[in-house]
This record gives sequence, structure tokens and C-alpha cells, in this order.
Amino acid sequence: MGDTGQFSIENGIGIIMIDSPPVNALGHAVRQALAAGFDGFAADDAVRAIVVLCAGRTFFAGADITEFGKPFAQPDFDALFSRIDASAKPVVAALHGTALGGGFELALACHYRVAVASARVGLPEVHLGLLPGAGGTQRLPRIVGADSALDLMTSGRAIPAAQAHALGLIDAIVAEGELRAGAIAFAQDLVAAGKPLVCARDREDKLAADRQRPDLFDTFRQKNARAFRGFRAPESIVCAVEAAVTLPFEEGLARERTLFEALMASTESAAQRHMFFAEREASKIPDIPKSVPTLPIASVGVIGAGTMGGGIAMCFLNIGIPVTLVELRQEALDRGIAVIRRNYEGSAKKGRMTAEQVEQRMALLTPALSLDALARADLVIEAVFESMAVKQDIFGTLDRLCKPGAILASNTSFLDLNTIAAATTRPEWVVGMHFFSPANVMRLLEVVRGAHTAADVVATAMELGRRIGKVSVLAGVCHGFIANRLMEPYMKRGDLLAMAGPSPAEIDKALFDYGFAMGPFQMVDLVGLDVIGRDNAERTLSGDLVALGRLGQKSGGGFYDYDENRRAVPSPVAAQVIAELGRAKDIAPAGPLTADAIVARLLYPVVNAGARILEEGIALRASDIDVAAILGYNWPVYTGGPMFWADTIGLETLVEGLRTMGIEPAPLLVRTAQAGGRLSAL
Ligand code: 3HC
Repeated sequence: MGDTGQFSIENGIGIIMIDSPPVNALGHAVRQALAAGFDGFAADDAVRAIVVLCAGRTFFAGADITEFGKPFAQPDFDALFSRIDASAKPVVAALHGTALGGGFELALACHYRVAVASARVGLPEVHLGLLPGAGGTQRLPRIVGADSALDLMTSGRAIPAAQAHALGLIDAIVAEGELRAGAIAFAQDLVAAGKPLVCARDREDKLAADRQRPDLFDTFRQKNARAFRGFRAPESIVCAVEAAVTLPFEEGLARERTLFEALMASTESAAQRHMFFAEREASKIPDIPKSVPTLPIASVGVIGAGTMGGGIAMCFLNIGIPVTLVELRQEALDRGIAVIRRNYEGSAKKGRMTAEQVEQRMALLTPALSLDALARADLVIEAVFESMAVKQDIFGTLDRLCKPGAILASNTSFLDLNTIAAATTRPEWVVGMHFFSPANVMRLLEVVRGAHTAADVVATAMELGRRIGKVSVLAGVCHGFIANRLMEPYMKRGDLLAMAGPSPAEIDKALFDYGFAMGPFQMVDLVGLDVIGRDNAERTLSGDLVALGRLGQKSGGGFYDYDENRRAVPSPVAAQVIAELGRAKDIAPAGPLTADAIVARLLYPVVNAGARILEEGIALRASDIDVAAILGYNWPVYTGGPMFWADTIGLETLVEGLRTMGIEPAPLLVRTAQAGGRLSAL
């Protein structure tokens, strides 16, 4: 057991202290230590009550995810909880940090819970495509009622201790920094007052009320149908809570177990667990160890107050870093600042921040009309339109006026970072920081490493991404870096397919059903045909439609027409444009296609692009590509991203499919398929 569990007795209170860095996950050794503690204290007459607490930064952060896929070795959660159920002595869980998943379920199985105010509790299993499988679906509704239980478990949200206290999930808040003493005092009071052993499993009060509401679950399902689309876990959670309300505890528990095991075996959960580790893996760069120091960033300059620049500025204002926002013209600057204010005020209206916070953030923003204002900035991010000449001009100027040691970043989406860096005398300070629109919302940050970018500059950009709430993914220099290059074939193939027969509506429906929030044509109509098709030399559908004044939703029509309620309806004009260009390009009709075949036509080429990105070393690992697709393009997370998805359909199928479409499969894809390997593991 080593140092995992330490047991001591203080004033008649038996203390089980678990220390299993980094997050006290409830792996086998930890469960063994807990069982030993419970057994030892049960047999010890000197012990009147038991306190469970953790060393380090957090209470148990959940089951050990690395143990998933095989049955839990004994003692499993059941074996631990039955010790608590059988205990004649009160067991108190003492929470700090984040008590999550199986960790919080353990706390729910204890008779009492105390926490410091900074603690947060939650059941985030849904994010792993699972349900709380250690009795959480049965105990939580018994403590807080079905409504709150459904909300907490299907959102996976962690709530602060005060809120948990108000819900009855925590019995007492103890002084910050004095959890141990506070928990011991609480346990002593219990003993002194002869308080009963409260077992959530025996509670009936909340459920009795829920039993009188037969439509509770269907109403919940209907209300959340959109948010739950494509995911498996939320429906299983609803079923488990239904069981909690309608069945005796033990039967409910058995139902929970069956549902949990089915989810554990599902592709959706495997995909979401892949994503959990992929997000964390992305921060690791083999030749830049964590020991490389990052540079302090206390002030940021953003060039360009358009949608992108404004969103980027907000990312830094949100974490209290002052931003100087530079535009050429007063009018554009005013407009940019007004949009930022409007965004914040919108959040305030929704209750996500206070009016005071809006003002605090706006006060950190300094508008400026000249690059001279950036002379003292620690980091400058250029976010002007995609013109190499303009960017080179800006970087040349920055080189002259920025202080030594300033990081010069470009938000370019496609252009060659090395050429941009060549406009300066300090290419080692130049890095790409590529945000995705809307920049204050989308969680992907591509950090682009140029030929000369210094290691500490890369490390700083990666770490800064984490600080502003993004997942940073490292990319090498190429046209479009990872996410945009990956998804380029998606749009192109969509256009080609439309010219071969299926309507935009049919194609969009297939991709929507696959899990995207919208199909490619709906997306182009939303973003604007003029924006998407801008730098195409050859004739394209978007180009032809733009020539007819059809720019998308903003002009009343693009690939679709829009009625007065902005509802998309098929457009005869667009159909004609598509047919004409199809004839001009001599595109053979595809004949009738299933939804799966349509998806394959658009997404197999994406996987192929991913394989090339990987073999060229643009991405460090396949899972980085999945992260980029999911967080940058809203690729459905329950498919695991393009690379993981490719493994689930089979690489042989993929290679063959590509060849049938007349596309040369990437050598890496062919090799991996032949070797029977997994693309997502590369
Ligand atoms: N199991 C195994 N490893 C875990 C883990 C877990 N439950 N939680 C975190 N880790 C690992 C991470 O992979 C990471 O490893 P690395 O350093 O090698 O990359 C390390 O611990 C630190 O994690 P983070 O980088 O995420 O640290 P943060 O401080 O940013 O966040 C945290 C801490 C909030 C606890 C976050 O790690 C987290 O959300 N963890 C997952 C919590 C979770 O989902 N729990 C439910 C598990 S499923 C379950 O309990 C099933 C049950 O119902 C039967």
C-alpha cells in the first residue's frame, strides 16, 4: 500500500488520509487503502467516528480512468460502500479541491459531508460518455430530488460548495485551510450529540414527491433533445434516475450497473475517453519539456478590431490581462470596442457576469490608432485580413518598435509563418497563435511553430492558451496548419458531390445526422459565401452564387433561400447554378447515395488529409488532429474526431473507399491499414 493511505486516531476520531498524486483517482491501491482503513477503524473500539480526507490538491477526482475497460479489481466501489453501509460509526467525507465522479459518489455514500468553501463537487461522467456508476444515479436523486439530479448528471457540471450546501449535498462548510480540524470537530459533535447515521440509500422524502410526477422524465427528455442529440450517456442517466424513482435501492443499483457497462462498451464512450486524454496529451511537446520556463505576459496588444481581433482581445480581458487594441480607422476601432462591450453586456444580461465585471473588463481595454501604442506590450497578436504583404508590413513595423523580448504572434489561418517572420530581424520571437471564430468561445488554439521560433516562445504561447481556457495544439507551418487544412476537403468534396446529384439539403442532412451542428452548405450560408470562397482561383459554386448576389443568409439567400422567419428552403436558383457548373466541369452523376455514402464522400478525404498532416509532421500526434477537429470545427466528440473515427470504421474500408472516389490514399494510411494498426494511436 506504500504511502497511499495513512491512518491515525485523534480524540476518538479515526482519520483515513489518502495521498495518491496527482488527483487522488480511486485506483486499485487507493481502494485497498480505504478498505484497510474502514476495516481497521471498525474493529478499533477507540474509534467513535471516521473521517475520510485526501492530501494534495484535491479530494478524489473520480475512478481511475486508466483502469477502464476491464472489471474493477477488488475491493471495487460496491465493496467499499458496503463497508460504510455496515458501519456502526459515522463516516464523514471531508472535501477540498474537486470531488468528482466516483470520488463524489464515495462522499455521497458516507453518512455526512463537510467541505471548504473553495471545494467543487460534480458528477462529470457524462463527459466520458458514461453515467455515475458507483451508486451516484441512485443516491443523488434521494438527496436532491430527480430534477436537480438529472440536471447535475446530464450537464456534468461541478458546483461550488455553497451551492452544494444549499442543495443538501454538503452538511457543513468549514474554514478554508482547516479542513482536517474542521472535519474532526464536526465528527466529534456528531458523536457527542448522538446524531443518527444518515444513509442516502434509505432516504425516501425527495423521491416520494417525484413519484407523483409521471411526466417528469419525458418532459426532461423533450426539453433537452437538442443538446443530447447523438450522445448515449444522457439517455442512460435519465433511465437510471427513473429507476431510482420507481425501484427499490438495490434494484436501481443493478439497473445502474447494467446501463454503466453498456456505456463502457460503447464506441461513444471510448471516443469521449480518447478525447479526455487527447486534450491533456496535446500540451506535451517532446523537445520542449515542462522545465522550459515560460515568459511573463502582463500586457497584450491586438492588431485588428474585427470579429477575430475583438474575440481575441476578450480572451485576455477575461483573465485580467490589459489589452491594447489597434485599428487603422477610428470608426472601425469604435465599432470593434462597441461589439466587445455588447458581448459582455449580453453575458451580464444572461447572468453570467455582473455589471461591475463588465466595467472591470472594459477598463482593461485601451483603444489605439497606431502601432506605436504596442511598444511596451509583452505579446502582440496580429489579426488583420489574410494578405501576406500587409502582414509583412506590420511585422516589419513591429520589429522596429516593439521592445526586445516581446512575442510577436500572427493569427494567420493559412499563410506561411516563416515568410511573415522573415520580415523581422527576430524570427525566434515570431509564433502563430491561430484562434477559431468566435475566438472568445471556441476552445481550440493552434500554436504555430516557425522554423526559427524559440522553445520558450512556443512554451509561453501554449501555456497562455491554457490560461485563457483553450486547449493549445502545436502545429507546423503549412497551408492551413492543422484544422483548416484538415477540413479543406470537406467543403471541396461537398461542392463536388452537389454537382454530382445530391441536393445541398440531402448532403446537409447526412452530415447533421452524423453529428455536426449543421451541414457544409448551411455553414457556408451562415458564414457568408463571399468569406469562404474568397481566394479561389478556379470557378466554384460559391463564386458563381456570389456573382448572382447570393452571399448567404445575410443577403437573403445562398445555397438555400430564406423565408421571412429565416428558415432555409431549397433554392431553385442555387439548384440551377449547381447543375450548370456540374455540366461545365463535366462531373459524372453519382446516382442515388445513402446517407452513409454521402458522409464517406465528405469525411474520408478529411481523414486522408489528417494522415498527410501527420506524416509531414505538421501535427505531433494523431490525437492532436482529433482535438483540432472537435474543438475547432465542432466535429462531434462522440465519434472521437476524424482519426479515431477512421479506426472505428476500419482503415481497410477507408483506403478502399478513397480509391473508389479516385483519391490517392496517404502512404501512412495505407501502411497503417496493412499493418493492422490504429491511426488514432500514432
Ligand atoms: N483518472 C486517471 N487519471 C486522471 C483522472 C482520473 N479520474 N483525472 C485526472 N487524471 C490525470 C490526468 O490525465 C493528468 O495526467 P497527466 O498529468 O499525465 O496528463 C493528471 O491527472 C492531472 O489532470 P489535469 O491535467 O486534468 O489537472 P487539472 O488540475 O487541470 O484538473 C481535475 C484536475 C479537475 C480533477 C481534472 O483532471 C478532471 O476533470 N479529471 C477527471 C474527473 C472525472 O471525469 N472523474 C470521473 C471519472 S469516471 C468515474 O468516476 C466513474 C465512476 O462513476 C464509477
